[in-house]
Amino acid sequence: MYKDLSEEKKHVSVLAKEVLQYLSPQKNDVIVDATLGLGGHSSLIIEEIGKKGRLIVFDQDKENLEKAKENLTNFLDQITFFHTNFENLAQKLDEINVKEVDGALFDLGVASTHFDQAERGFSFSKEGYLDMRMDRSNGITVEEIINSFIESNIADIIYEYGEERKSRVIAKAIVEARQLTPIKTTTQLADIIEKVIRGKSRIHPATKTFQALRIYVNRELEVLEKGLSQAFDRLNKGGRLVVISFHSLEDRIVKKMFKKWAAKCVCGPDVWKCECGKVVEAEILTKRPIVPGRDEMNSNPRARSAKMRALKKI
Ligand SMILES: C[S@@+](CC[C@H](N)C(=O)[O-])C[C@H]1O[C@@H](n2cnc3c(N)ncnc32)[C@H](O)[C@@H]1O
Repeated sequence: MYKDLSEEKKHVSVLAKEVLQYLSPQKNDVIVDATLGLGGHSSLIIEEIGKKGRLIVFDQDKENLEKAKENLTNFLDQITFFHTNFENLAQKLDEINVKEVDGALFDLGVASTHFDQAERGFSFSKEGYLDMRMDRSNGITVEEIINSFIESNIADIIYEYGEERKSRVIAKAIVEARQLTPIKTTTQLADIIEKVIRGKSRIHPATKTFQALRIYVNRELEVLEKGLSQAFDRLNKGGRLVVISFHSLEDRIVKKMFKKWAAKCVCGPDVWKCECGKVVEAEILTKRPIVPGRDEMNSNPRARSAKMRALKKI
């Protein structure tokens, strides 16, 4: 029996102490929580910024946003809630006339609530419609992709976003199976994959494919670049950006963007004298990514793959 590591425990905010340490929220600060979830990190931040501080929060999942409102009920007058993707962060800050913020937090990916609800289609061990959209008011579902995309496109998605070496075999099996009957549910898809991939690994053979399809339908990598850029633009000098990622594709983007902002020069290696005029815009506060300690990993399995990076704008 395989373990679906992503759903072992209820949602607990990851690296909570470290987030506070690196975000360093101060009294009266204005802070963005770009991925509110159930409001775990936000509830800690609000204690630090005090009664005159302000939180601006985003979640593309309406149900999570509503649950977080209940969890943050004592602070509602200090919080502005946006049900939208953080790729719209700058536009939303403009709408409320906020030009600069003191800090921004991105705790990426899905929440435990997504895995808890079988009908959302995130968990291959719970029978449910293959949806996987975090924002159910928008976009295409996984079911639509696997029943309508051509085989090579499905294989490319599984390879690019799941780093699954057997992507072609899986795509072929999907296309053969859908000719017999449409693939509507999580367990149908997981069974198709399990029949063609027999690994010795402890993780289910469908894990990487599910990750890939989820990243694709939610455009997770594309919006990450947009959201981080907009948040960085809006940081005031001394403002901090903290990002927690859960897979290497995300972390690679965060690392690359941080490096660019902290770079003295972006001239190519062939240029012997700097011509770019780039100024150093940020100081990276985490030379290596911060990862949870053994205790946190044991008590919260979801934390196992977490990597946190932080910077200060200068
Ligand atoms: C890991 S959870 C955040 C948990 C939160 N920090 C806490 O302590 O409760 C990530 C949340 O961000 C939301 N989310 C993910 N990507 C998003 C995006 N691009 N725009 C807005 N919300 C997003 C998800 O719907 C989910 O609720």
